[in-house]
Amino acid sequence: MLRTIINLGFLKNSMNEGQKTEFDRELININYNRSKHLSNLLLFVFLVLIFTDYLNYNKGLWEGVPGYRLLFFSHLFLTIETLLVIIYSFFARLQSPLDKYGEKRFFVTSFSYLTLIGTIMSSIADQYMNGQITVFVLSSLFFAIVNYQKPLFNIIMYLISYVIFIIGITYAQADPDVLRGHYINITVLLILAVFLSRILYSAKVKDFISGKTIEQQNIKLEKTNQELSNANKNLNESLLALDESQNIIFTLTLTLESKDTNTHGHSERVAEFAMALAENLGLSDKEKVNLWRAAILHDIGKIGIPDAILNKPSALTEDEWSVMKSHPGRGAEICSKLKFARGILPIIKYHHEHFDGRGYPEGLKGDSIPFLARIVSVADTVDAITSPRTYRSQPRTMEQAIEELERCSGTQFDPVLVESFIEVYKSNAIVPLT
Ligand SMILES: [Fe+2]
Repeated sequence: MLRTIINLGFLKNSMNEGQKTEFDRELININYNRSKHLSNLLLFVFLVLIFTDYLNYNKGLWEGVPGYRLLFFSHLFLTIETLLVIIYSFFARLQSPLDKYGEKRFFVTSFSYLTLIGTIMSSIADQYMNGQITVFVLSSLFFAIVNYQKPLFNIIMYLISYVIFIIGITYAQADPDVLRGHYINITVLLILAVFLSRILYSAKVKDFISGKTIEQQNIKLEKTNQELSNANKNLNESLLALDESQNIIFTLTLTLESKDTNTHGHSERVAEFAMALAENLGLSDKEKVNLWRAAILHDIGKIGIPDAILNKPSALTEDEWSVMKSHPGRGAEICSKLKFARGILPIIKYHHEHFDGRGYPEGLKGDSIPFLARIVSVADTVDAITSPRTYRSQPRTMEQAIEELERCSGTQFDPVLVESFIEVYKSNAIVPLT
């Protein structure tokens, strides 16, 4: 039991060093402010009591009963003690500086000890008159309630008071029955005071810890909110930047298509065919996004091809063809500067490769051609066949396009994709151009 009372810190152990110091300082401030107000009030009370002692003296009571003289000295002791601590606090200028914790602690300790000793003297004096110990009892309980003191501090304070009190009343109280009653009462009472102060101190520690926990959680929450808000801001900025760069590049595609009379709306239709294939092949969302972007941008490299080559109604010369064949590489080069297009560069670069290795720019073969590039290749060819071109009078039908796909399956196109396209067409997922 004693160990539990003395144990200062099963709760305080959960605090870190900084929090312990903060807690101690908070208690010092509370105790100091309470003691300061109390000392002002008590000074007034003791001065009144000294005046009553003076009246008793005038009545001649000091001569008849020895307790009155001792009572006066106890009041005088308390008055001087209170006055001294007030003067000390005044001269130490404890009111304003925040860091004079040593002085504040000294003020509280000396005030508590000396006031208890003064009230012991009063109760001893009372043994000659009324035989009561009320004053000491009240002040003991009062200090247990008013001050948040560490349990060890309280045990020492009450132990010293107890010894002085026991010696004093043993000397002053002549009636052994009354004396025995006082021994029992004060023993029980001081144990009660120690427990009481211990409970209040623990409650204060718990209060502080929960306050700190809430404070820490709030700080953490605030930090998380801030991080989220920053992430959100960054995301919005990135999306805006992405939108801007996408818009610019897609505008370039439209510019290109307006420049090339053969390819009006071509990229959107290629994207549409590619998406229908993607759906049939069960591609992931990420692959679909990349495929759609690549389909829109696959011919962006044509922006650097001279109009005379791009719009030539007759067959191209060998030199002109070599310029034309540079468009996949140019397209990848243009898009390499764009963050959002990094994943689609191989699709743009290799959309004219053939499954048998006879395509351009690198002559890649079979599975070494990126799968999404093979899809764009099929979609690109289907649209080239089925849309109007200056070099032929009528666009061909979707059936003719499929015939072409079947004819070139395994040479120009991946057979799996040819089959997939036919499947998509038969399921009416593709509306042929009219
Ligand atoms: Fe192309």
